[in-house]
Amino acid sequence: MKAAMVTSFGPPETLRLKEVTKPVCEKNHILVAVKAIGLNFADVMARLGVYPSVPDPPFIPGLEVSGVVIEVGSEAKSFKRGDRVIAFTRQGAYAEFVSVNENHAYPIPKKMSFEEGASIGVTYLTAYHGLVTLANIRKDEKLLLHAAAGGVGTATIQIARHLGVEVFGAASSAQKLDVAYQQGMQHGFNYQTEDFERGVRQKTQGKGVDVVMDSVGGMVFRKSWRLLAPMGRYVLYGFAAVTGKRGINKLKAMKEMIVTPLVYPPNIVSKNIGLFGFNLYFLFDKVEYFKKASRQLMKWYNEKVIKPVIGARFTFDRIAEAQGFLQSRKSFGKIVVVM
Ligand SMILES: NC(=O)c1ccc[n+]([C@@H]2O[C@H](COP(=O)([O-])OP(=O)(O)OC[C@H]3O[C@@H](n4cnc5c(N)ncnc54)[C@H](OP(=O)(O)O)[C@@H]3O)[C@@H](O)[C@H]2O)c1
Repeated sequence: MKAAMVTSFGPPETLRLKEVTKPVCEKNHILVAVKAIGLNFADVMARLGVYPSVPDPPFIPGLEVSGVVIEVGSEAKSFKRGDRVIAFTRQGAYAEFVSVNENHAYPIPKKMSFEEGASIGVTYLTAYHGLVTLANIRKDEKLLLHAAAGGVGTATIQIARHLGVEVFGAASSAQKLDVAYQQGMQHGFNYQTEDFERGVRQKTQGKGVDVVMDSVGGMVFRKSWRLLAPMGRYVLYGFAAVTGKRGINKLKAMKEMIVTPLVYPPNIVSKNIGLFGFNLYFLFDKVEYFKKASRQLMKWYNEKVIKPVIGARFTFDRIAEAQGFLQSRKSFGKIVVVM
């Protein structure tokens, strides 16, 4: 089968299509013929060699696919041949076939396209985990969201608006802010050209926000941390700020690390605020939790509460270009690679 492999850590062109052996379907696995691959910013970090636990090259990156079950292991009970599924991998998704433990696959509704399937897993589970499970966000609360027009960003706005939350969002261009407004964001800030901290303070009469969803870190963390109101919850789930257009810019990365404030626990107590951090990659074995969360997401999809925003589609032979586009900061919504 064909697979895209990271041949060495570096720019997008290090990702190359190779002929490799088709995976064997183990006894508690299903073998999926991949129809679409969902790209994640974590894939870019893996290719750059800065994602935690990333293997040494050469390796097949990728975290999620949609497709059709073509083989069922002797002890797998949940699926049959022909089922339409989404499946999660800890690397290995950039391939024509993937074999996954049946616990890491979910059926998808009939009316959901494979492209939507490849877009609904990681992004919406991330939004759900941060917003619903950790922050326990409630109606009429105020949310500040960064990278608001991205895959996770658009998913987060859709869920937040459904829950009656007021959304303040930041993104790096007017076009991206338009995308976020279309999803229901009420207040937008271009954090490349304006001071979002001052803007949020003005719009909230100095009170700040109840929840921050931050995947950027560095200076964005520094300013947003100051905007957290009493009883506020800060959810940190990425460090995109350390990434440059071609790779990791060491100077920029160091600068962003230096401006990140140290969080002193006694201050959290007096200020009545909290900080959560998470990485779903290391929660892979929380099978029952993710099954429940996925059922909720599929229900919301069927009720038209959520709908993945697919910003760009690429064919498999252009997957390196697709990753370059995600890294360029020009993309919005989810990028899908169609087989
Ligand atoms: N912890 C977890 O379990 C988990 C799971 C999924 C995703 N994430 C994180 O959530 C974020 C969103 O993921 P995604 O896959 O949906 O990607 P995405 O938001 O579609 O793309 C990444 C976005 O990050 C923003 N960004 C800020 N600084 C950047 C920089 N220096 N270089 C590149 N982009 C920069 C850009 O938006 P602007 O141009 O508008 O700033 C860019 O479009 C990523 O940081 C990812 O690592 C974490």
